[in-house]
Order: sequence, then C-alpha cells, then structure tokens
Amino acid sequence: VSPNTPTAADIWDAGWSRAGAGVAGSAIRELLKLTEQPEFISFAGGLPAPECFPAEEITLASERVLASSASRVLQYGPTEGFPPLRELLASLSARRAIPVTPEDVLVTSGSQQALDILGKLLIDSGSPVLVEQPTYVGALQAFRPYGPRFIPVAMDVAGLIPEALESALAGLARTGARAAFLYSVATFQNPTGVTLSAERRGAILDIAERYDLRIVEDDPYGELRYDGAPAPHLAALDAARHGRPRHVVYLSTFSKLLAPGLRVGWAVGPASLLRKMALIKQGLDLHTGTLSQAIAHESCRDGLLDRQIPRIRQIYGARRDAMLRALERHAPEGVRWTRPEGGMFLWLTLPEGADAARTLARAVERKVAFVPGQAFHADGAGANTLRLNFSYAPPASIEDGVQRLCEALAEG
Ligand SMILES: Cc1ncc(COP(=O)(O)O)c(C=O)c1O
Repeated sequence: VSPNTPTAADIWDAGWSRAGAGVAGSAIRELLKLTEQPEFISFAGGLPAPECFPAEEITLASERVLASSASRVLQYGPTEGFPPLRELLASLSARRAIPVTPEDVLVTSGSQQALDILGKLLIDSGSPVLVEQPTYVGALQAFRPYGPRFIPVAMDVAGLIPEALESALAGLARTGARAAFLYSVATFQNPTGVTLSAERRGAILDIAERYDLRIVEDDPYGELRYDGAPAPHLAALDAARHGRPRHVVYLSTFSKLLAPGLRVGWAVGPASLLRKMALIKQGLDLHTGTLSQAIAHESCRDGLLDRQIPRIRQIYGARRDAMLRALERHAPEGVRWTRPEGGMFLWLTLPEGADAARTLARAVERKVAFVPGQAFHADGAGANTLRLNFSYAPPASIEDGVQRLCEALAEG
C-alpha cells in the first residue's frame, strides 16, 4: 500500500449527495454520549421508563402469535400494515374521535418513519415548512435532507399562536409561495410539554381552511395526561367538520404506550395521501415487521392499553410532580419553566444571554445531563433554553439530579 493510497474515508468523503453532505454530528451529541454511563442522572433522553414496559404481556403475546400463526407472522406482509392491526388502529382512532376505516390507516415503523415519508412526498428544495418554535428535533432531522425552508411559528404557554401562523401564511401568500405543511406536536409537546389550547385548535383549523393548509399532527403523547381536561385532536376537529380527514394527517405510535423497540406507529389521513405514503414506504422497508405488528395487535386485543395507560400516567405523573417540586425548591432566580399536564418533558428558560450549552458542560461535571434548547429551534435561536425529561429517572434521582442541575445553573 503506497502512502498515496486513499483511505476508506477519502473514498467515501469524495462524493456525498447534498443530503449526505448536510448531516453532521455535534459537540453536544458527543457530550451526551458520556452521560449514558450508569452513574449519571440523565434528563437528556426521551426514553420511556423501562419499569413501564409490559414485558410479561409482550412475551405471552409473542408466544401466542408464534404458536398459532407462525407462517403468517414470520412472512412478508402488506405495505399498508398487518390487516388485524389496521382494524384495531381504526377502532383506537375512533376512541380518539377520529372516525376512520381500516383502509385509512397506514402502519409505519414508528412515527419517525412517517415524518420521513411526508418529507419525501411534500418537501422540495426550498419548500416552506411551518414548524412550532421550538419543535421536535427528530422532525427537523427527518425533513432537513429534503431541503426545506423552515418557517418557525411562535408559541406561548397555550401552544402555537394562531395570529403568528396566519401572519406567516399571509407573508408566504404575498410572495406567491405556498407552505408544504404545518408540523405540530399539539399535545404535551416535545420539547416544551406545552399543549395547544382547545380554542386555538379551532382557530388553527379555521386558518387551515382559509389557506388550504395541510397539517401534520404528531401525537405520541396524547394519552399521557396527568391532570387537566383533554382537548380534541386537530384531526378530530377536522373530521368533525368534514366527515373525514381533510387538512390533517395524524401520526401516533405505540412507542410511549407499549415499547419503542416494537417500532410500530401509524398514520391516518386523507385517502389520496395515504396511498402515496404507502408507495414511498414500500421503497423504504416494504413493510413494518410483521412479527412486531402481530405482537402489538395481540397485546392490545387483550386490553393491554387499558391497563398500561393508567399505570404509566401514575408513574410519570409522580415523576413530573417530583421534578416540579425540586425545581421550586432549588431553581435559581430568573429561571422559568413550563408546568405540563402530561407527556415526558418540561422546558426551562434561563435569563436572557445565558448559554445552556455552557451549563451542560458544568452539569456533566456533576454527572447530570439535559439537552440544550438550541437544537429544537429551526433557526438556531434558543441558546438560553433547555429540555428536561422526567419519565426516565426514578423520583429519588429526580430530586438529586435537579439539585445538581440547579447548582450548575447558579454558577451562571
Ligand atoms: C414528537 C415526536 N414524534 C415522533 C417521535 C418518534 O417516535 P417513534 O418511536 O414512534 O418513531 C418522537 C419520539 O420521541 C417524538 O417525541
């Protein structure tokens, strides 16, 4: 091998696609890897508590489906999804006031896959995509390779601000442009924990009708409510107005209710959209694992969700309370935080000019971790914000971890 022989990296680095050239790690990602060691208290991840996994019931469901229908559940299946699961998801959607038939359901490999499919179908290079500010970083990551022009829309404690949405749409209309879609995590948002108020949901649908706006409603957390009254899903309001989904494609998942390792999510929405989504999905993975889908179906058929949801609500509700109490006790002057009625996250805003990434370095020395807020901002704002996850660490570590975090914050 001569010294001039190119290395593997030389060979591959020589020609990335535009999307390939655009993806890069970050210093924060590297720092957060450190925090996966056991002595760390991590508020950084978005992980469900493993204590909530229904391991035994999933074991039994696996045994049953393999014993009774191995030749079906180990075989390739339809791209749209395992038919009995699509039926079950149509009934689950009806319980969420989104009346659809099994044909209106597309099973996806987690909601994350639906985001990628929607990006492929709806975003061209330069397409305006409206996102909440801040928003789910995994959605930004899924959409980015398609070259969107993100338009951040302001939120407050009642969620996306309708006037801000309308003014963004009016601005686009003046230049003759049309938004590809609005992406919204309306309920117990990742990252802020904030929920869009019921009144604003109606106002946002009014705007969607005026502007023919498409809405992607991403709802992994809606069932995880610890107090307060539920607001109707955007998809439910849309279907109530039109009899069927019209403006809204609704995404949900078993990741936070059963187990993310199953990789089973679903999309419901207008038929023409779902048909196209299935064609794209076929090129991605042919279909979501039949065995996973059959296990999800078999467990839920047996009423597992009705046992899981109250249990998770109780455990996460207590953890949210522990985190709120600890913040009240230890947070330094000038730090504000959200008080979510559900979900897995809360959001801190530090005084103007503070730098959460710098705080992270100090927090890591104290063996506690969180995610600085900037990555959740499509436009790179939010240096003085951060996200805390409260579902993963047990209550005793939450108190201890928040205390250490607040010491790091108090250092400036
Ligand atoms: C808002 C949001 N959407 C989608 C996902 C991806 O979930 P899934 O496991 O279903 O792919 C997550 C996961 O944390 C999320 O928070």
